[in-house]
Amino acid sequence: MSPAAEPLGLLGIEALHYYVHDLERSRRFYTERMDFAEVAVSSPELERAGRQRSALFAAGDVRILCSAPLPAPGLEPGRAARWLRAHPDGVGSVVFAVEDAGRAFALIEARGGTPVSDPITWRDEGGALTSFAITTPFGDTTFRFVERRGYAGSYPGLTAHAAPRGGKNAFGFGQVDHLTSNFRTMKPALLWLEHVLGLEECWEVTFHTQDAAGAARKAQQAAHGSGLSSVVMRDARAGVKFANNEPRRPAFRSSQISLFVDDNRGDGIQHAALTVQDIQGAVRGLRARGVEFMPTPAAYYEALPERLVSTGVGALEEPIAGLRDLGILVDGAGHGKYLLQIFLRDSAGLYREPEAGPFFFEIIQRKGDQGFGAGNFRALFESIEREQLRGDRAEGSV
Ligand SMILES: [Fe+2]
Repeated sequence: MSPAAEPLGLLGIEALHYYVHDLERSRRFYTERMDFAEVAVSSPELERAGRQRSALFAAGDVRILCSAPLPAPGLEPGRAARWLRAHPDGVGSVVFAVEDAGRAFALIEARGGTPVSDPITWRDEGGALTSFAITTPFGDTTFRFVERRGYAGSYPGLTAHAAPRGGKNAFGFGQVDHLTSNFRTMKPALLWLEHVLGLEECWEVTFHTQDAAGAARKAQQAAHGSGLSSVVMRDARAGVKFANNEPRRPAFRSSQISLFVDDNRGDGIQHAALTVQDIQGAVRGLRARGVEFMPTPAAYYEALPERLVSTGVGALEEPIAGLRDLGILVDGAGHGKYLLQIFLRDSAGLYREPEAGPFFFEIIQRKGDQGFGAGNFRALFESIEREQLRGDRAEGSV
């Protein structure tokens, strides 16, 4: 088998490493609102060495490691400080579990990947953890690969709390379903995912609001519309999926994708989708805790029954009124299979602060459909347009 075809031995997305200005605010968000548990914090030694303070939050198989810079007068800034000098808060590293770090390292290097260091092994009372990181075409975001052989702790340098603090995963988060990234041009990332990581293309879509605009709005959309091309790459064995977007002309610069890259000050990860088994219960509970979601126009639900017929999805198990009350979106490509999804407000909107960054979470419940909700681009846009034509004051954005 050629090195290009040999799988890396990915096991899944293990964690996202998120660099933030305000660790306390992240702690409140994950433990009080999202009902994650705080399971570990950085040791004093790690804080001295890295000039940053970290806390690890977990729910199901989802782990979010947040790090904020510590003052380090006269010292070279740590990774979080360097990230935040260039970008607002955001995902600075994606951590993958891998079967054999040494083999993954050799394959990546043979295929032209760029390791930041050689693999390093740490040992604790349970066993060993071997890890290395590489640079990527995802802006300044790095990918880290971790092999565990009985290692008892979470990550080297983190100290586990005697008992997890905060939440108990009341909303049933399962795992990271996919990561979506925005690029000014995505082809370098697609080629890198294919040739260096060995992923395969599994899905693609192109959409422009102009294509869905009524005749009267076409000229306006040409000047101000929003379009994107999206390609999903996956490691079929591990179930790891990357959705990748780039802006689409006309009005390239006003595309939401281009605006994200402006706000993020570079290409990067736009959202992470977290799986749940009961999205209605989860969204009801999250809303009760003050989690804010992107608004869905009422007209979206008026058009939904017809859309379910035309797409072949057919009847839903969930009453539409219940989905409407919670703002949950539906998409599917037929045969009774569909997915339910909803997007949290981005951090900058949530905190009314641009430096909190344009990253956001999606919550997804799959009911047989393996897509990514592309039909919702058009459905949301058309429903906003319908409300605007009616003279309603529609909120929301496609
Ligand atoms: Fe998504």
